Amino acid sequence: MKNVLFRRKNVGTLLKKSGDVQLKQTLGAFDLVLLGVGAIVGTGIFILPGTVAASSSGPAIVFSFIIAAIVCALAGLCYSEFSSSIPVTGSAYTYGYIVFGELVGWLVGWALLLEYGLAAASVATGWSSYLSAFLEGFNITIPKAISGPFNPADGTYVNVPAIAIVLAIALLLTRGIQESAKLNKIMVFIKVGVILLFIGVGIFYVEPANWQPFMPFGINGVMSGAAIVFFAYLGFDAVSAAAEEVKNPQRNLPIGIIGSLLICTLLYIAVSLVLTGMVSYTRLNVSDPVSFAMQLVHLDWVAGVISLGAVVGMVTVILVMLYGGTRLLYAFGRDGLLPQSMSELNKKYNTPVKNTWTFAVLVAICAGIVPLSKLAELVSMGTLIAFTIVSIGVIYLRKDKSIPTGGFKVPFFPVLPICSFVLCLFLITQLSVHTWIASGIWFAIGLFVYFIYGRKHSLMNKE
Ligand code: ALA
Repeated sequence: MKNVLFRRKNVGTLLKKSGDVQLKQTLGAFDLVLLGVGAIVGTGIFILPGTVAASSSGPAIVFSFIIAAIVCALAGLCYSEFSSSIPVTGSAYTYGYIVFGELVGWLVGWALLLEYGLAAASVATGWSSYLSAFLEGFNITIPKAISGPFNPADGTYVNVPAIAIVLAIALLLTRGIQESAKLNKIMVFIKVGVILLFIGVGIFYVEPANWQPFMPFGINGVMSGAAIVFFAYLGFDAVSAAAEEVKNPQRNLPIGIIGSLLICTLLYIAVSLVLTGMVSYTRLNVSDPVSFAMQLVHLDWVAGVISLGAVVGMVTVILVMLYGGTRLLYAFGRDGLLPQSMSELNKKYNTPVKNTWTFAVLVAICAGIVPLSKLAELVSMGTLIAFTIVSIGVIYLRKDKSIPTGGFKVPFFPVLPICSFVLCLFLITQLSVHTWIASGIWFAIGLFVYFIYGRKHSLMNKE
């Protein structure tokens, strides 16, 4: 029994298998950086710099962003080493499988499914609110009953725009990653464009007096702010999920991961400084702080352009999160831990059409009827669990002589992976009790699925 649970994947077989047929290798370093920025910059930049400054950090939100960036960069270095040594799909799931064996791999994958699914659903609901606000500008009102989760007391029953956007993106994904990457590229340019517009215009309205006091809630406020804005960086790990579709992965994957993190960190720092410089942090607890600041200085057209950019920007986050989820299901199906239909590729488009629709429908149901605000922290839990395993996993990866060397290596080994591991554990302890309970339930379901299905059908039974 013990051997079954901890049986490990052989890297040689895995690399050979992924080289045999499967997905087309079309993505270069630049595509990956854009995929990363597309996945990372979403609600995080358009909402959190305002709400978190008002409630937790004050203008020192910029420190919260820097701290969260450090945690992500450390984990990102570990991801880079894994993804360049083992460029196969499945991200932390596959890494956990190789290093710690089947059960740990499965549980990490299960955690990631939670991250991708709930993040896609949460951002879809955020998108729906921004869309409503944007349409209001043209005097078009979406009826309340169809613009929120099931909550009859409040008069909302289903969030139709959120469902529609998830299904529309799923359709796009079924048509092929290259097509999706092209569209992603255009949308990332628009998104980064409106952010630069905000910074470029806003900087002229900064009043340094607004930065006083800089740290109104002390260091504790900065730390709890860091745990919240961590959400703003989620998504870069989805880059490693594209591993099998990348040209020259040893070089391009680390550039994709670290490059996108760096760009996002710079954008977050600049937006936070300008925003808290334009408006006192005490007034920023609104749902659209970035365009709100522009309205305050009577630049309504800039505010409108920013809302539009936010609507476009969130689409790419949903796209990459859904993409990550479908490739994870693909890896589960290929390994026999879920039914094989999850890894079937459509003949015409060469994409996993069945699993894309399965995942998208589940995400759409969540986005459409479940009140997500209470579940949002679960996204961080799923991600942090994957980060801890990847961080500590690098140490074992280096010891494994069967794994090809020559790719990217984490500097200051093993100090940085250990720091990454400890910091991620620290952030996990900062999450609330109800998040711990909800994750417990999620993992209990995961174990059930594994013992009822995965263990018996695992391809490892044949190896
Ligand atoms: N990082 C993503 C966002 O901020 C999840 O929307």
